[in-house]
Amino acid sequence: MGSAGHSHPAVRPASNFAERVRGGFERQAGRYEREAELQRAVAWRLAHHCRGLPLPSGPCGDLGSGTGLLARAIEQQRPGLTLLRVDNCAALLGQDEAADRLAWDLNLGLPCQLQGASLLVSSFALHWLEQPERQLEQWCQSLGPAGWLALAVPTAGSFPQWRQAAQAAGLPCTALPLPVACRLVEMASRHLRIARVDHLHFSRKAPSALTFLRRIRTLGAGASPVAPLRPGEWRRIEAHWPAVPAARGGGKRLSWEMLLMMGQKPAP
Ligand SMILES: C[S@@+](CC[C@H](N)C(=O)[O-])C[C@H]1O[C@@H](n2cnc3c(N)ncnc32)[C@H](O)[C@@H]1O
Repeated sequence: MGSAGHSHPAVRPASNFAERVRGGFERQAGRYEREAELQRAVAWRLAHHCRGLPLPSGPCGDLGSGTGLLARAIEQQRPGLTLLRVDNCAALLGQDEAADRLAWDLNLGLPCQLQGASLLVSSFALHWLEQPERQLEQWCQSLGPAGWLALAVPTAGSFPQWRQAAQAAGLPCTALPLPVACRLVEMASRHLRIARVDHLHFSRKAPSALTFLRRIRTLGAGASPVAPLRPGEWRRIEAHWPAVPAARGGGKRLSWEMLLMMGQKPAP
C-alpha cells in the first residue's frame, strides 16, 4: 500500500473533524462490509453505468474507496480495468488486499498518481470532505481529455424525518450536513459534458429512530460537526419522529436522497 501524503509538499495536518471522521471509520472497519448494504447496492448500480464507457488511456481511481466495494464492482463488470483505491483510513483500505491502494487525505486534493485520469469514481465519500464542491471541481479538473467522472453521493434532501423531528423537538439535527445536489451538478457541468444525473431515493425501516443512529455508528459513519445530543434530548427527537402506521408494519423510517452523476471531460 502507498503511504499517506507525508512527503507531499502540500501536506498540512488533517483538521480535527477530518481526524474524527477517520477515527470513526477506523474503529468500525471490521464491521463495514457486513453493514454497508446500501453502499453495496449503490456501488453495483454505479459500476453498471461504467460498463460501456469509452475510456481513454490514463489512470483510474476510486476516491474514498473504503474496502473497495465500488472499485471491485467495476472491475467485476469490466474485466481488464483496475482502479487505484484512495482512502485515508488504512484499516478499511487494508481489507482490499489484492488491490493497488493509496492512503491519502482527499481534503488535500488528488494524489499525483491520478492526474490526467481516464476514470474517477466515488461513492458515499465526497460528503465527508471539508469542501465537497471545491474537491469535486478539482476532480473534474484532474481528468484527462475525454476522461470520465462517475459519482454517487448522499445529498441535502436526505433524512427529512430526522430534520423534521429535530425541528419539532426544538433541537439541532445532528446528522452530517450534506451537499446540495444542484450545486454539485452545476459545478461539474462547468467542466464536463454531463451524461447522466439521477436523483435516487432509498429508505430503510427500523424499530426505532435510535436504531438508525446505532446503525450509522456501527458503519463508522457517526462523525458530525454538530455536537451530539444527550440521551434525554434524543428521546425527544424519537418522540417527534413520524411512526410508520401499524398496518404497514410500524416502526420508523429514514430516507436518503442520492445524486448519481456521470460526466465526460471534453476532448480538445
Ligand atoms: C461510507 S464510506 C464509503 C466507502 C466506499 N466508497 C463504499 O461505497 O463502500 C466513506 C469513505 O470515505 C473515506 N473518507 C472520508 N474522509 C476522507 C478523506 N478526507 N480522505 C480520504 N478518504 C476519506 C472514509 O475513510 C470511508 O472509507
